[in-house]
Amino acid sequence: MPTVVNLDGDLVPPAQAKVSIFDRGFLYGDSVYEVVRTYGGRPFEEEAHLARLRHSADRIGLVPKWDAARTAREIARTLEAARGGDSRDPAAAPWNAGERYVRVVMTRGAGEIGLDPALAVNPVALVLVQPLAGPPAAAYRDGVAAAIVGVRRAPPAAIDPSAKTGAHLPNVLAVREAREAGAHEALLLDGAGFVTEGSSSNVFAVAGGTVRTPPLGAGILEGVTRGVVLRLARSEGVRAEEVPLRPEDLEAADEVFITSTVREIVPVTRLGPHPVGGGRPGPVTRRLHAAFRALAGGPRSVGPRVV
Ligand code: PDD
Repeated sequence: MPTVVNLDGDLVPPAQAKVSIFDRGFLYGDSVYEVVRTYGGRPFEEEAHLARLRHSADRIGLVPKWDAARTAREIARTLEAARGGDSRDPAAAPWNAGERYVRVVMTRGAGEIGLDPALAVNPVALVLVQPLAGPPAAAYRDGVAAAIVGVRRAPPAAIDPSAKTGAHLPNVLAVREAREAGAHEALLLDGAGFVTEGSSSNVFAVAGGTVRTPPLGAGILEGVTRGVVLRLARSEGVRAEEVPLRPEDLEAADEVFITSTVREIVPVTRLGPHPVGGGRPGPVTRRLHAAFRALAGGPRSVGPRVV
């Protein structure tokens, strides 16, 4: 399927989807966004994502062009326009094949150049739908490498970490550093050296059967997938704690995994140059991922698709 763009309520061909060069999203990253994915063609945890979009907007005093109900309607319309036409990717994990990536962006708008938010007029609302390019089946089966990078997570006093804004330069630079180290994901520390999160994921460590992840107070995004995983751990009888973590806690862990909307739960089997645990995805990660698969629906394990 091609990319389908809904710009301000109009379905437009991607090449014609243009915003003003005066838009503050372009000039300053003055925007908020969400990434939602589908299962069976339907958005997953959409309410939580739309609530977080609202929260992000509130945190930076941005009035989104659309409310949650309108946004949900526009997402549905855009998904409808994006039906069919998928090419088969033999490397895709079965639960990602044929699914959609939905990006919702709300900018503060354009206006006279200047940092003052009061200059903004004409806010932009965008829904972009693409085929979901989730991690390949091999990433779930074998795990991925992550690298603790030198770029630090901006302190909460600088920008509220619970707001998902377009101001992403630190994350971009973190990924650049991770790629240079041959890693799939960058893990960012805060100014005091505590683990915060990935460039676009939350991070968990498993030691002695207990799952640990940094608390919201560590200055992280409250990941929707993180929330689902914490609930699943509790319902599976797996002890889960939100506690500050140091890099050593990740390095000494039996298992490490990252979570995000697009990735679900991906085992981290290498941290920098060192293998994590036995260097293979561990049993707690597998168990939580199986529970996640059961919740989200669709095929439960890496392997041939059962139809
Ligand atoms: N990113 N932390 C950061 C900094 C993120 O950007 C994301 C998500 C997460 C995980 O949140 P969730 O489980 O709600 O997806 C954590 C999205 C997927 C992205 O930017 O593509």
